[in-house]
Amino acid sequence: MKTPSISTLLFILFVTFSCSCAASVDDFLECLKGGFDNYTSVSDLIYTPINSSYSSVLRFSIQNLRFASESTPKPLVIITPEQESHIPPVIYCAKENDMQIRTRSGGHDYEGLSYVSDVPFVVIDLINLTEVTVDAEQKTAWIEAGATLGTLYYRIAEKSPTLGFPGGACPTVGAGGHISGGGYGSMLRKFGMAADHVIDARIVDVNGKILDRESMGEDLFWAIRGGGGASFGVILAWKVQLVDVPKKVTVFTIQKTLEQNATQLIHRWQYIAHGVDPDLFIMIFVRRVNSTQDGRNMTIRASFSSIFLGGTDRLLPLMQENFPELGLVREDCEEMSWIQSVLYFAGFPIESREVLLNRTQPNVRYFKAKVDYVQRPIPQYGLEGIWRLIYEPEAEEAEVIMTPYGGRMYEVSESAIPFPHRAGNLYKILYLVYWEEEEDQNSNRYISWIRRLYSYMAPYVSRFPRLAYINYRDLDIGVNDNNRKISYAQARVWGIKYFKNNFDRLIRVKTAVDPENFFRNEQSIPPAGMGHGSTYASSI
Ligand SMILES: Cc1cc2nc3c(=O)[nH]c(=O)nc-3n(C[C@H](O)[C@H](O)[C@H](O)COP(=O)(O)OP(=O)(O)OC[C@H]3O[C@@H](n4cnc5c(N)ncnc54)[C@H](O)[C@@H]3O)c2cc1C
Ligand SMILES: *[C@@H]1O[C@H](CO)[C@@H](O)[C@H](O)[C@H]1NC(C)=O
Ligand SMILES: *[C@@H]1O[C@H](CO)[C@@H](O)[C@H](O)[C@H]1NC(C)=O
Ligand SMILES: *[C@@H]1O[C@H](CO)[C@@H](O)[C@H](O)[C@H]1NC(C)=O
Ligand SMILES: *[C@@H]1O[C@H](CO)[C@@H](O)[C@H](O)[C@H]1NC(C)=O
Ligand SMILES: *[C@@H]1O[C@H](CO)[C@@H](O)[C@H](O)[C@H]1NC(C)=O
Ligand SMILES: *[C@@H]1O[C@H](CO)[C@@H](O)[C@H](O)[C@H]1NC(C)=O
Ligand SMILES: *[C@@H]1O[C@H](CO)[C@@H](O)[C@H](O)[C@H]1NC(C)=O
Repeated sequence: MKTPSISTLLFILFVTFSCSCAASVDDFLECLKGGFDNYTSVSDLIYTPINSSYSSVLRFSIQNLRFASESTPKPLVIITPEQESHIPPVIYCAKENDMQIRTRSGGHDYEGLSYVSDVPFVVIDLINLTEVTVDAEQKTAWIEAGATLGTLYYRIAEKSPTLGFPGGACPTVGAGGHISGGGYGSMLRKFGMAADHVIDARIVDVNGKILDRESMGEDLFWAIRGGGGASFGVILAWKVQLVDVPKKVTVFTIQKTLEQNATQLIHRWQYIAHGVDPDLFIMIFVRRVNSTQDGRNMTIRASFSSIFLGGTDRLLPLMQENFPELGLVREDCEEMSWIQSVLYFAGFPIESREVLLNRTQPNVRYFKAKVDYVQRPIPQYGLEGIWRLIYEPEAEEAEVIMTPYGGRMYEVSESAIPFPHRAGNLYKILYLVYWEEEEDQNSNRYISWIRRLYSYMAPYVSRFPRLAYINYRDLDIGVNDNNRKISYAQARVWGIKYFKNNFDRLIRVKTAVDPENFFRNEQSIPPAGMGHGSTYASSI
């Protein structure tokens, strides 16, 4: 018998493949028609590439240009639910048609996992589930998952000048991803993580059931407070406990270059920042700057950026006692309300808080990030090695951010929620590199640079495992292979970096709530006996 030529085979494969894909979108939409009582009332929430606004809706919440290119795999369908009840039929029909679901709240995932997948997928985009209801008397708030942190802070300040919430600094970050991954900001020393303050939640599970804390049970409720939401279902809303903040807080930023002893000051900071009064938070932003007008010489600049939950009169003696080397004086300090400090830390003028409601991040760029936890002070020569790397050409737009631990972070047990990084850590280092060009070969240069920095840091940071933070998602640390049976051993490589020993409990919860592994991505928690029921498990 004549063997068919390669091109015939390819043709057959191509036709089979593209037809089955196309068919599944139609089948999916057909299924949705049956899933809603009145499909007409929701059809304008459903986008496929034939809708002219598909691209702009997809693009709107992309916060890293690395995943906005032509070649980035795109969802077959985007759905923007306006009510909780819009979500269960989507889950049902995606399951029926072998499509994955990616849930997107604010789109800040560092690796784009909320809107990129290389298997056929549907995006549930929560951009229209954004209500925040604050109860100032009970000091609680219900936050719909698609709301941004900026909206949350704005709504709190609307109700009370002395309530706040200890979440991230960037106002466009979504509550759905942020709180389910832990979430921290400038009040972490005083109050811990955002997820520490969740007291109730609503989620749609794999069977399309809408559950609250009571009906989901304490195991699942534990898992979604730091274990990443994407492994467990679609989180609809959080109920959080707000915290008391003083009427006046104090902020300051002091910048020092190498010539002004930046290295010595950072070195000293490592011994101080985690141990001082938890009202005081001093983080450091390090970057390279031109030291001469013509840009022919450069230096490193450290910005000691700080918030104190109290007035200047109490701050000055505290700094004098603990960190006199920084030379803080009254003129460096500015007193303001907590909500103004939110604007200050986000880099906005403090006069108008309306900007907190704006979902458009002003500075969307190409970037790659990595993170480390530091458990022993880094010697000065170790810091100087970082500066040498920052002088390399790829690092013109690089940034190293050091966030102090201590206070409340040391009081909460490692297993209270899945986010495990508590006592034993002095501070966290976030490395970021930004670039402008689009071409892949250029991107690779910058990504190689940050990987070199990461290798360089190995002797100075946490080991066995080298810890990581799921909200600073990094696919370099290990991924599941979604095309094969996911092995426990493979998932454990990245799993214990994010979750330490909590990883095993996360697996038990996953096994109980989603044994078929429907909700999955490159770094989702696998169920025990992994891969069963996964369409892709059997295909290779
Ligand atoms: C500019 C910038 C600033 C940041 N600043 C901080 C900071 O100060 N502190 C900090 O802790 N982190 C910070 N982060 C990281 C941020 O907390 C995480 O990226 C977080 O996961 C983003 O949440 P999101 O909803 O915006 O992202 P998304 O990309 O929408 O989601 C992130 C992940 O969560 C999943 N997910 C989202 N919504 C849901 C849901 N409703 N149900 C189930 N799963 C869901 C997604 O599928 C994805 O896996 C920052 C990130 C950026 C880009
Ligand atoms: C279905 O929804 C559309 C749009 O919201 C509305 O005009 C129509 O009357 C509804 N039909 C039924 C049968 O409820
Ligand atoms: C997309 O196109 C379909 C088919 O024309 C239409 O039914 C649907 O309402 C459109 N979606 C939006 C968001 O306009
Ligand atoms: C969100 O809801 C508003 C008001 O209902 C609507 O005008 C808008 O088109 C919706 N946005 C998306 C992306 O569906
Ligand atoms: C830097 O430190 C050295 C030694 O401690 C000191 O002599 C010098 O005055 C400092 N320089 C500045 C600009 O503070
Ligand atoms: C530093 O100098 C270089 C070379 O002249 C220039 O391209 C760059 O814009 C300068 N950077 C800043 C922040 O001024
Ligand atoms: C240029 O920078 C280097 C390294 O920081 C420094 O040693 C040197 O003195 C600087 N030269 C000038 C002219 O500033
Ligand atoms: C929202 O922010 C973006 C980015 O800074 C800006 O371009 C836009 O004008 C802002 N929108 C409003 C309504 O202020």
